[in-house]
Amino acid sequence: MRESVLGAKGLACRPHTNVTKMKTLVTGGAGFIGSNLARQLLADGHAVTILDNFQSGHRINLDAVPQARFVEGDIRDKALVDALAEGVDAIFHLAASVGNKRSIDMPIDDAQTNILGTLNILEAARVHRVPKVVFSSSAGIFGELKTLPIQEDHPVEPDSPYGASKLGAEKAGLAYAKLYGIRFVALRYFNVYGPHQRLDPYGNVIPIFVFRMLRGEPITIFGDGEQTRDFISVQDVVQANYRSALAPDVWGAFNIGSGTRISINALVEKLKRITGVDARVTYGPPRAGDVRDSLADVSAARQAFGFDPAQTMDENLTRYVDWARQEVARVEQMTV
Ligand code: UD1
Repeated sequence: MRESVLGAKGLACRPHTNVTKMKTLVTGGAGFIGSNLARQLLADGHAVTILDNFQSGHRINLDAVPQARFVEGDIRDKALVDALAEGVDAIFHLAASVGNKRSIDMPIDDAQTNILGTLNILEAARVHRVPKVVFSSSAGIFGELKTLPIQEDHPVEPDSPYGASKLGAEKAGLAYAKLYGIRFVALRYFNVYGPHQRLDPYGNVIPIFVFRMLRGEPITIFGDGEQTRDFISVQDVVQANYRSALAPDVWGAFNIGSGTRISINALVEKLKRITGVDARVTYGPPRAGDVRDSLADVSAARQAFGFDPAQTMDENLTRYVDWARQEVARVEQMTV
């Protein structure tokens, strides 16, 4: 990989040697993936500051990370981001305006957060010579899929403002890597699921199906249900963040999936078995803009930083359903 370089306009970043006890900044740390990551970092003795504005994060997720320092704020606040980056060894940048649908509803907000917010992170990393920035990107940058499995050099033709803003942020980060020697890692997540993933208006299929099943509600499959997705557990996504941060000289963009795929029909059968709920299933028209199939080739991440996703979807779904059951009970408790 690449050694630190002295950029034309900035100082070279510090060498990334302090990997046993890192001082970290986790943007979006009150979110689903960020809170799982923060918990792992703290368990391993790293210091964690969380920056979150609760746009898609939840206060209750912070209960799991009481040792973290929490700052409520926005990545669009340049001065705040700059102050928080001082002395940091690694920034895990997860804060984002999330999802295709939200970006179509609010494209300016999406770009301001995902592009300009990320530039604030990159500028702060440059000024404070932060050695490592790990950025949460998305398989949404690829758009219509042309080959399976998807390798890193697959054409990038996003078909939503979200895919475009994630791609723009990724490209800006890679330019900063070349200009200033920041080890910028973009992790292109496929379909992530796991504990702390709540049901929201822009929700993904697993939380929609699980929460509806647990509440005794019917579910709708869009299209014939034979479309496939590469579902990756949040534990594996945490592992990808962690290992890419600890590998001192790694930088670049990597696909992060399980390397396996499953149809939506087969997913429903699994979830019926795990929840014990024989949900009523109806079929609706295919969702506009959906890709048919998705599957990550994860060999680049495996080679660069030993990414090794666990092939235990049944176990991970069981863990998720257990968490969702508690969540449904908690919400019911609050409404009585
Ligand atoms: C997801 C993300 C997208 C991201 C992409 C990256 C969301 C909502 N989706 O899209 O932002 O760019 O991964 O790979 O943020 N489905 C049903 N019934 C439902 C809901 C979904 O049948 O009630 C189907 C969908 O039509 C789709 C599949 O389930 O075929 C997966 O849907 P979803 O979880 O939204 O994921 P992606 O479409 O892959």
